Amino acid sequence: MALVHNCIIRALNSIYLQAPHIQPSDHKSFIAYCLAAHDGLQAHHDGEEEFFFPKIEHITGRKGLMDGNVQQHEAFHSGFHAWGQWLQDARSGKTEFDGEKCVALMDAFVAPLSTHLADEIPTLLALSQFGASLDLKSLSKAEGDKVMGGLSKTAQLPIFFVNHDETFEGGIHSFPPIPPPVKWVLRQCGRWNADWWKFGSVGFDGFPRELRFRGE
Ligand SMILES: [Fe+2]
Repeated sequence: MALVHNCIIRALNSIYLQAPHIQPSDHKSFIAYCLAAHDGLQAHHDGEEEFFFPKIEHITGRKGLMDGNVQQHEAFHSGFHAWGQWLQDARSGKTEFDGEKCVALMDAFVAPLSTHLADEIPTLLALSQFGASLDLKSLSKAEGDKVMGGLSKTAQLPIFFVNHDETFEGGIHSFPPIPPPVKWVLRQCGRWNADWWKFGSVGFDGFPRELRFRGE
């Protein structure tokens, strides 16, 4: 879970920092990059609310156990939704992309989102009180497979590749959790839309890199 959250935080930071410096010739690609981050986060939370949390509550027999996390989702939902709607309008040409506007819309939800992404980890760690009867590792893997499997391989999933630091904690984590040959193929797929993924905080080689569009 922390790996997914790290990717989301890096992706949103890369958008927030670069948005004011994107030139009109890159607007289309940047909007696609933003929408991949938006859709990836939406899918992550949908997966939690529709599968992961209900499974935890069912296994522990404690209905409402994960309500605190769902309430935190609701705390940033309207601002997050407004940003997504604006991005879709910018993609369809209904409105023009504006970096300052992008940042202003993000300001409406990044604080409660950041609180949630940090808070959710200890709430999961606290579930250790239920012992081996609650196999969080398997549940988390099943949720990850479901969410990642539902994302477009060329338009959404690469947002996780270009924001997952392979060197984190000495490179012990393989993420997204898919077999290396499949990962290799998907990384090649990602390059088909290379212009979208150049905004990422990590290269397709897995190494963190300087953001390219930070201005002076
Ligand atoms: Fe989460």
